[in-house]
Amino acid sequence: MAKILVIHGPNLNLLGGREVDIYGKFTLQEIDAELKKIAKVEKVELETFQSNHEGEIVEKIGKAKGKFDCILINPAAYTHTSVAIRDAISAVAIPTIEVHISNIYAREDFRRTSLIAPVAVGQVSGFGMNSYKLGLKAAIDIAKRRPH
Ligand code: DQA
Repeated sequence: MAKILVIHGPNLNLLGGREVDIYGKFTLQEIDAELKKIAKVEKVELETFQSNHEGEIVEKIGKAKGKFDCILINPAAYTHTSVAIRDAISAVAIPTIEVHISNIYAREDFRRTSLIAPVAVGQVSGFGMNSYKLGLKAAIDIAKRRPH
């Protein structure tokens, strides 16, 4: 069965009460529940992981090699700063899809640069919870095409 790893970066554990005008009122648990529903229907395995620590995310990606067919990641603030997460994605060479709840190009200048985008298959940004659902659809498509 195809396996997808979902990674949520820093502060996404605060969703639901965090800048709700930008990020909405849904919680991380609600996102994960929605993604798991889709995964069940599509018959793919899904593991979800959240961390506020760059090194933990780097280690999770490093250990994903040979275990996961695709990674769906919202690197949150690390999108704009983390060479280490970018390098981890490059190193494991697992197709990776970057998602953002908000439109990172319609906000502060520093959010317009993603260090992750050049090593991702693609990016979904600005559709709220739907960014994750659209990203997962793409991830499922990629994961199912990979040989098992
Ligand atoms: C975010 C956008 C980032 O700029 C920000 O640091 C986040 C969340 C998003 O999902 O819109 O924490 O990745």
